[in-house]
Amino acid sequence: MEVKTSLLDNMIGVGDMVLIEPLSEDTFIENLKKRFDHNEIYTYIGSVVISMNPYKSLPIYTAEKVEEYRNRNFYELSPHVYALADEAYRSLREQDKDQCILITGESGAGKTEASKFVMSYVAAVCGKGQEVNKVKEQLLQSNPVLEAFGNAKTVRNDNSSRFGKYMDIEFDFKGDPLGGAISNYLLEKSRVVKQPRGERNFHIFYQLLSGASDDTLKKLKLDRDFSKYNYLSLDSATVNGLDDAASFRTVRNAMQIVGFMEDEVQSILELVAAVLKLGNIEFKPESRCNGYDESRVKDKNDLKEMCELLGIEQSVLERAFSFRTVEAKMEKMSTTLNVAQAYYARDALAKNLYSRLFSWLVNRINESIKAQTKSRKKVMGVLDIYGFEIFEDNSFEQFIINYCNEKLQQIFIELTLREEQEEYVREGIEWTNIEYFNNAIICDLIENNKNGILAMLDEECLRPGTVTDETFLDKLNTVCAEHQHFESRQSKNSKFLTDHSLPHNCFRIQHYAGKVLYRVEGFVDKNNDLLYRDLSQAMYKANHSLIKILFPEGNPAKVNLKRPPTAGFQFKASVGTLMKNLLSKNPNYIRCIKPNDKKAAHIFTDSLVCHQVRYLGLMENVRVRRAGYAFRQAYEPCLERYKMLCKQTWPHWKGPARGGVEVLLTDLQVPAEEFAYGRSKIFIRNPRTLFFLEEKRRQCLEDLATLIQKIYRGWKSRTHFLLLKKSQVVVAAWYRRFAQQKKYQNIRSSALVFQSFIRGWKARKLLRELKHKKRCEKAVSTISAYWHGTQVRREYRKFFRANAGKKIYDFTIQRIMQKYFLGLKKMPSMSPVDKSWPARPYGFLDGTHQELRRIFHLWRCKKYRSQFTEEKKATYEEKLAASELFKDKKALYPSSVGQPFKGDYVEMTKNPKYQKLNSFVEDKVLVADVVSKINRANGKGAPRIFLLTKKSLVLADQKTGQVKASVPLPDLSSVSVSTQNDGFFALKLKEGSTSAAKGDFLLSSDRLIEIITKLHCIGATSADRNKINIDISDEFLVQFKQDKVCVKFIQGTPKNGNGVACKRKNNRLLEVSVPSP
Ligand SMILES: Nc1ncnc2c1ncn2[C@@H]1O[C@H](COP(=O)(O)OP(=O)(O)O)[C@@H](O)[C@H]1O
Ligand SMILES: [Mg+2]
Repeated sequence: MEVKTSLLDNMIGVGDMVLIEPLSEDTFIENLKKRFDHNEIYTYIGSVVISMNPYKSLPIYTAEKVEEYRNRNFYELSPHVYALADEAYRSLREQDKDQCILITGESGAGKTEASKFVMSYVAAVCGKGQEVNKVKEQLLQSNPVLEAFGNAKTVRNDNSSRFGKYMDIEFDFKGDPLGGAISNYLLEKSRVVKQPRGERNFHIFYQLLSGASDDTLKKLKLDRDFSKYNYLSLDSATVNGLDDAASFRTVRNAMQIVGFMEDEVQSILELVAAVLKLGNIEFKPESRCNGYDESRVKDKNDLKEMCELLGIEQSVLERAFSFRTVEAKMEKMSTTLNVAQAYYARDALAKNLYSRLFSWLVNRINESIKAQTKSRKKVMGVLDIYGFEIFEDNSFEQFIINYCNEKLQQIFIELTLREEQEEYVREGIEWTNIEYFNNAIICDLIENNKNGILAMLDEECLRPGTVTDETFLDKLNTVCAEHQHFESRQSKNSKFLTDHSLPHNCFRIQHYAGKVLYRVEGFVDKNNDLLYRDLSQAMYKANHSLIKILFPEGNPAKVNLKRPPTAGFQFKASVGTLMKNLLSKNPNYIRCIKPNDKKAAHIFTDSLVCHQVRYLGLMENVRVRRAGYAFRQAYEPCLERYKMLCKQTWPHWKGPARGGVEVLLTDLQVPAEEFAYGRSKIFIRNPRTLFFLEEKRRQCLEDLATLIQKIYRGWKSRTHFLLLKKSQVVVAAWYRRFAQQKKYQNIRSSALVFQSFIRGWKARKLLRELKHKKRCEKAVSTISAYWHGTQVRREYRKFFRANAGKKIYDFTIQRIMQKYFLGLKKMPSMSPVDKSWPARPYGFLDGTHQELRRIFHLWRCKKYRSQFTEEKKATYEEKLAASELFKDKKALYPSSVGQPFKGDYVEMTKNPKYQKLNSFVEDKVLVADVVSKINRANGKGAPRIFLLTKKSLVLADQKTGQVKASVPLPDLSSVSVSTQNDGFFALKLKEGSTSAAKGDFLLSSDRLIEIITKLHCIGATSADRNKINIDISDEFLVQFKQDKVCVKFIQGTPKNGNGVACKRKNNRLLEVSVPSP
């Protein structure tokens, strides 16, 4: 069994007290001392760690040490608190067992330090990662905050925890921390108002005053000087080795890491400041007429500042210090407070403020560090609770603390001593009983519900009538006098009557750790823990969020006349819960021992150590351990754990587990004295045997891991290979397909080329044959045609000769005519004025050609005419008439051809000037135009409106429309015009007609052709009238009234412009000169 164990190797004394020879109290203490002198502060008793406080820092808490102890077996290395932490953490992670680490010992023995080492070790070895690190950091940083508010310098310890603390650290299945939960027990709040000689108030007060900036202090209305505050004892305001200012910074930083908001920190500091201020409020008596003194606040400045800090109305608080409201049977009465009562009320308020703040802090920290998941958690609890305390003057607090330690001792006894022995008996293992002191009887003395001291105290507190500490003691004397662990002057042992070490107002309890004398003074008060309702109501009214939360009972809406549970009752209940909690977990013990009372390194006071060893029951512990077996385990899990060490049990053992374990141990050749078979468990005597098994198992697991690895690798490679193979087949199939496709395409294209060549050759052959055949057929038909021709010609030669000429001629003519007519198929244009006509192809067709042209012309004219409307037809008829009348007769005619005959040029109907004229003419107006009426006297023209209707013609003034003359058409005999290019015309009247009296009219108009044509047409169309003659000559006579005047037209160049000029030559001649065209 080659095991490297420092418990045996290079050992100073013995590392495990179980191995000590011979075992006695002296050798035990000698061993501790020897080790302590060599800085070996840790020693085992089996799995329990004894820790001596070195009072100096040792280099055994480094990161290297953590690595050294990590995942090592408990007995493998020299004893260390890390080994215990590692063991606990590993069984939590691997065996899924909730753990608790119970740290016990006197005040100053190193419990708090040990708890911090455990926590930091676990933090160092558990998982890493951003989230996990944050949780760890929060858990670790909760310590400085709680220490600042809950620790103080005492005579025994410069950093003594003045509260009990139990912290659950929660882990997930991987062993990563998820969060935690802290429970606190009984803060020693009396310290807030009074500290024993040589001790200090809680650290935070000194830290705040030394470390806060001037600005912060000003805001909190504080002064840096400690001596200004009544609540701060000056004895040891500064402590060697404690830097309050630096600690303050650490605390602020820790609060930030834990997750306190800036305003929360501010509120907390305000409360701390308020407590200091409260301590400075003093009272003076004021006599009242009823003879009683009433208290009054002496100097109101501190009160005022405190009220300002907490947002409390000063008068309300002031009144609460002078009066007290008592409620009885729905009646409210106000009683005055004397000075002593006022001081009592002030201190009660300060204590309550501070202790409630502390509980709030713990809750607030819990809120920050609580695990975020709801999944199942594994828990490691660390209990660091005040150790056994024996002072000169012991009061209620010590009583409570020592009660708690009694309970812890019970657990220790339960789990290690009694439980162990009982188990051997139960399992049928040979065993000689070990005597040990069971402190259950002391616990019963204190906590028994009927006649326990706590029950008596509660009964006394709730009893009506006057209740004092003395009445309480009397009660104890009557009820507990018989108890063997209770002593008082009145108790059964009359010898105490003469024992002067037992004063009258005291009782003594013989605890497991020694006798403690308790002074009853203050028991009732402290148990009642009363705060006058007026004060809690004043606090509730504060305009400060935190204060309001701390004093919920001050809410007038929730007035509760029932008394709150007493301090003793509450403590008992919370200790009960704690015990239940601890019992459900696997315990790990650290038993702290203090080497001296001077907080000094290197001093080992034998008597002090001996006392602790005794009351901690360490000797009994070793004895039980030595007589017993170091390790036990039920058969099933044991077989499950080690079955791989033996071929018969691996991988499956069929049959009872015990048989399996027997086979296993025999196979491993473990000496028979090293183990014993219990009924349900195997017991292993020596830790080394266990370690041997563990080592074997570790090796075996390595081999198994290699095997699993091998199989896994094989499986993985094979799967990989199969995958490759499968892929190869797929690739090959695809490649083959591709190759075959390509080959096929090659063959196919070759076949196509081949085919096309053959087809081409065949086609060409066929073509050649067909061509040859066709040529042959053609040759045949040609030959036969020639042959027939020859035959026919030979046959009909005689007929041909007789008629051939005529036939050929007819045929030729027919052909020519045919061609000619076909040529005419493309007609010239349909316009009647188009003169074009194709040229004559043959001279003999001349007549036909002209005739066809004429017919065609007539036909297209007819076609053209047939498109005319009636109106247009009338216009053309007029134009035709004009042409018949004047064409080639008057030079003016050609210019009129292009002008349409509009008829009305003056717009008779529209012009309002001619309204009268319009109404004068009844018929349709055929012509309305402005003409010149030539004056016979000078040949000049005057403008006249000329109107022509079917029945008459009218001359009217152009400007006024006044009718000058109206001539019925039958009175008109003829019209004379010249041949020239002028507009003169003479209207001649029938001799003897009525109109003739005024004489003929000589007029001139540019539209002469139109006027005359229309005049002529009227004559031609009406049957009742003669045609009006039109004379065209260059000389005619005009009858002006009596005279006949000759109008002669000559051609000449007019002098001015190229207009027509009319001149009177003499009485009988008017000469009109017309410009030559
Ligand atoms: N392991 C240790 N190494 C160095 N100093 C220690 C150790 N344990 C305790 N101390 C010293 O002893 C003092 C008191 O320890 P502490 O744990 O506060 O005692 P307890 O909590 O038991 O009252 C600490 O402030 C520290 O100076
Ligand atoms: Mg402590």
